[in-house]
Amino acid sequence: MAPVKVSKICCIGAGYVGGPTCAVVALKCPHIQVTIVDLNQARIDAWNSADFKLPIYEPGLEEVVRQARGRNLFFSTDVDKGIREADLIFVSVNTPTKKSGVGAGFAADLNYVESATRRIAAVATTNKIVVEKSTVPCRTAESMRTILEANSKPGTRFDILSNPEFLAEGTAITDLFKPDRVLIGSLQTQEGRDACEALAQVYANWVPRERILTVGLWSSELSKLAANAMLAQRISSVNALSAICEATGANIDEVAHAVGFDSRIGPKFLRASVGFGGSCFQKDILNLVYLSESLHLPQVAAYWRQVVEMNEYQKSRFSKTVVDTLFNTITGKHLAVLGFAFKADTGDTRESASISLIRDFLQERAYVTIYDPKVDDAQIWLDLSEALPSWPIETIKKHVSIARSALEACRQKEGIVIATEWKEFKEISWQAVYDQMSKPAFVFDGRMILDVEKLQQIGFTVKVIGRGDRL
Ligand code: UDX
Ligand code: ADP
Repeated sequence: MAPVKVSKICCIGAGYVGGPTCAVVALKCPHIQVTIVDLNQARIDAWNSADFKLPIYEPGLEEVVRQARGRNLFFSTDVDKGIREADLIFVSVNTPTKKSGVGAGFAADLNYVESATRRIAAVATTNKIVVEKSTVPCRTAESMRTILEANSKPGTRFDILSNPEFLAEGTAITDLFKPDRVLIGSLQTQEGRDACEALAQVYANWVPRERILTVGLWSSELSKLAANAMLAQRISSVNALSAICEATGANIDEVAHAVGFDSRIGPKFLRASVGFGGSCFQKDILNLVYLSESLHLPQVAAYWRQVVEMNEYQKSRFSKTVVDTLFNTITGKHLAVLGFAFKADTGDTRESASISLIRDFLQERAYVTIYDPKVDDAQIWLDLSEALPSWPIETIKKHVSIARSALEACRQKEGIVIATEWKEFKEISWQAVYDQMSKPAFVFDGRMILDVEKLQQIGFTVKVIGRGDRL
């Protein structure tokens, strides 16, 4: 049996992963019809909107959708039709950390994956290659296979592949155009290898063959967790060093630069920060911790757990610096927090360090004005309500306001906190900000983006993550 020539793809889940990934597949493979389906009508309407007000912000995404939508890229809520027509189905639904039950706080909630899989089994009448794309714990493919096989109709075959997505938000489109690697995991049987080759042929339309890696299912699933855990570990390592720098007067920027010159270490992903966020890092490490514990490997679990604990420490350490510097109290004081997204160039706020900082400031009874160029107000209120479950929203709104520009946010504040590294924060007229602030005027740079010397010349007292006072 030769590998199937894929002509119709369905992607279940039109979120941060499924949307950009399958839009790029459609752009690069004009001969393949790609339909992205989702149960969320509002999300699909936004993907289909005439003025291209897409549900997620990602540089370059709009151009891709403009070129492919209506040609061979379609968005729909008709999940069943999408499944029925496709030769290959990507499952890109959300897999949040479980909030209750066994493994709460650690294990992934596979409810969405399971219902999407059950839907495929219920609806499919022809053979399908089912590709797990969501970030999932090891062995999910195995569970999907069991569900599909137990529910399939006679003569319908399912082949399961794991094809984890490595794109980073903010650079998703360039990452998809030129991926470091595409990883495909399959069963090591003839059928498994044929399914793997069918998907490899899709990617080969734009990705060089030597960058398409094919491995076993388990290795593929574990590689995704491993890559994210190792990236997060780099940040926690550099953040742990940033605490030493602050205590000794060293400068983490200089240390990271010197360390990164070692070609074995390399310069990327060594920027100290107020803590990593995003939908993947914490979730994947906690998954790894859960997996290690289930496999009776407590030392391995403890090792990875420490990466998340260091991240929590970094966030609370930064809040404490703000309080300590503002004369040990921020009660009744007015702070501006610039940036609410978990990193620049995205509107995504999942696990954003900014949320933890603002929660801490509110618990100290400060007043906070937030500005972020891409995050919607509704998202900010939702995130703060979740971070402070015992606070009624009216109380939160009494202490928090949302500004329309960085300058507006900074007006007449006692302290300014940089939580996200948006480029525009570098270009604020800091002299104008200073003139309106009560004195002494404090800036806390949690992202190392400001020109400290310039700010000091203006008159600010500047605290930068990883930079000690004793130079
Ligand atoms: C990550 C992985 O990079 C990607 O391969 C995977 O598919 C999904 O998870 P993402 O979460 O979108 O991507 O963003 P990433 O650029 O990795 O940043 C994650 C967090 O780490 C952000 O909060 C970022 O600000 C922080 N970070 C990153 C640092 O604090 N320092 C750095 O040097 C790099
Ligand atoms: P990710 O960052 O992993 O892409 P998102 O939450 O942005 O996660 O997107 C996941 C999408 O999957 C959501 O839009 C959600 O509505 C959709 N989804 C979840 N379960 C199903 C399902 N069974 N069928 C169709 N869509 C689903």
